[in-house]
Amino acid sequence: MRSVGIVGIGSYVPENIVTNKDFEQFLDTNDEWIISRTGIKQRHIAPKDMPVSELCYQAGLKALEDAQIAPEEVDLIIVATITPDYAFPATACLVADRLGARNAAGFDLEAGCSGFIYGVVTGSQFIATGMYKTVLVIGGETLSKVLNWKDRSTCILFGDGAGAAVLQPVKEGFGFLGFELGSDGSGGALLSQPAGGSMYPASLETVEKNLHTLQMEGKEVYKFAVRVMGEVSVKVLKNANLKIEDVDLLIPHQANIRIVDAAVRRLGISPDKVVVNLDKYGNMSAASIPVALDETFKSGRIAEGDIIVMAGFGTGLTWGACVLKWTKVGLEV
Ligand code: ACO
Repeated sequence: MRSVGIVGIGSYVPENIVTNKDFEQFLDTNDEWIISRTGIKQRHIAPKDMPVSELCYQAGLKALEDAQIAPEEVDLIIVATITPDYAFPATACLVADRLGARNAAGFDLEAGCSGFIYGVVTGSQFIATGMYKTVLVIGGETLSKVLNWKDRSTCILFGDGAGAAVLQPVKEGFGFLGFELGSDGSGGALLSQPAGGSMYPASLETVEKNLHTLQMEGKEVYKFAVRVMGEVSVKVLKNANLKIEDVDLLIPHQANIRIVDAAVRRLGISPDKVVVNLDKYGNMSAASIPVALDETFKSGRIAEGDIIVMAGFGTGLTWGACVLKWTKVGLEV
């Protein structure tokens, strides 16, 4: 099996910022409540005419430029999203077309906020086996399009954005060292967009009942997240024969600062090794982890050989983590 790493990264968020104060204009909420319960101060929201494929295209383009790889060299594009442009065709195919990645296969992957982890784990298998050389994995979301803007317990939590990673073979001992993925469909109803699929096809009734918007049992998701974030990070380190002391950086899914803090306590990792940017972006679902990775790299905080753990949880329910030894140098194979 070949070693696989991330040789290029990029991200994109829409310009428009919605602050907590902005919500006070039309919702019974306030800045203090949102900050103390979530840690979120603002989020970026896409304009009405900007679909998720646009965000994914921008992030993907930056990642390819960063890796200095031409679009024609990409063998496969995976877009992790729960807010695709359409039920079909797949957003990955639309992004491939925009990029000019004419030799790439493409599919979407739905694992909620664990989507980017599921994406890099899936994409890296094709390279590890020698089937493909270059895979572009994009986590992109426009959750703003499926929120109920009258529901204060959900609409304040989310933001829009996209992050992308180019995967290629890297030198032995570097790149992805281990992963852990899981799911529990019995918790599916805790976080869903019920209508528009084959269970509740779109009708006047589904629209009137707001069933095309995100519905969440916040407290139950919170309890699940606190439990699973610690567990999955412990397991992924065990799979890679590493200890918590070996970790240079933890990039957790950015849903709620209280969930991140609980995971940090459970792991006993020093808080200065933990990336937090949810104050600026809110929860961008599949985009949260790659946007945080990109920002952290660009800030100069990641060096060759660093051990990085990325861990997430989301609708499904799903959870996932991966550990990698950082290098951005691809191998000529
Ligand atoms: N402003 C003011 N008050 C509010 C707001 C708001 N925006 N939202 C809820 N409240 C009120 C509630 O109505 C409730 O009032 P009551 O006591 O009079 O009934 C009170 O605040 C407390 O509400 P709780 O739901 O108990 O608040 P909690 O502390 O649990 O925080 C939250 C809610 C932030 C949603 C939390 O449960 C959470 O973060 N859950 C996890 C969500 C999550 O991570 N989702 C992402 C999943 S990933 C994916 O795949 C998309």
